Amino acid sequence: MAQVCNDLTEYGWANFSVFEYLPSELIMELKAEVELLHHNGIMKEAGTGRGADHSRDRSIRRDRIAWLKGDTAAQVSLFRFFERVRVDLNRLLFLGLNRFEAHYASYEPGDFYRQHIDSFKGRRSRIVSVVFYLNDQWQAQDGGALRLYNRDSPDEICGTVLPEAGKMVLFMSEEIPHEVLTAQRTRYSVACWFRQDEVPIPL
Ligand code: OGA
Ligand code: MN
Repeated sequence: MAQVCNDLTEYGWANFSVFEYLPSELIMELKAEVELLHHNGIMKEAGTGRGADHSRDRSIRRDRIAWLKGDTAAQVSLFRFFERVRVDLNRLLFLGLNRFEAHYASYEPGDFYRQHIDSFKGRRSRIVSVVFYLNDQWQAQDGGALRLYNRDSPDEICGTVLPEAGKMVLFMSEEIPHEVLTAQRTRYSVACWFRQDEVPIPL
C-alpha cells in the first residue's frame, strides 16, 4: 500500500495485482455474478453526470452497469477488502475518505467510454477511483484497454492497462483524464470510488 500511495502522489495513478491480497476464488465469484447480471439483461445503460445533469449519451459511453449493494458473500468480502484500503489511504495520504461505492460494468464488442474525469474539482465527492478487471486471457488485440492521461497535459498518455483479471488501477478522480478504448470482446470490470461526502451530524 505504501508503493500505491507513493505512485498516487507522484503520478496521480497506481496499479497492482489484487491476487496478492484477494483469493482468486473471490475474483471468480465476482466474475460469475457480473456474467449472470449481464446475460439476464439486468445491467442498465450507464449515463454521465449526476442528478439533473444526468444523461445517456451513447457517443460518450456505451457500457452497462449494476451497483453492488453488498448482498452476496462475494460482495461482502470485497467491501471488507476496500474498507482496509480506505483506512490505509486515509492513514497514508490524509484523504478523509468516508464513503465507498462500486458498480459492475460490462462492455460489449464495439463499446467504449471516451476520455473523461470521474469528478470535478470543487464538488469534493469522488476522490479516488479504483477499477479492477474480471476477464481471463485478455490480449492487446481484444481492445478495451484503460488509457490514462497525464494530469497536467491531457493529450499525453501516461499509462495503458489491459483489463485482465486481477489487475487493479487506482487514480485521483479529480485529476486523471482516462478512457476505455473500444472493446473487441465482452469486457467486465468493477469500478469503485472512495468519496469524501459531508455526513449530516446526528442530533
Ligand atoms: C468509469 C471508468 C474504466 C474502466 O467507469 O468511470 O472510467 O477501465 N472505467 O472500466
Ligand atoms: Mn472513469
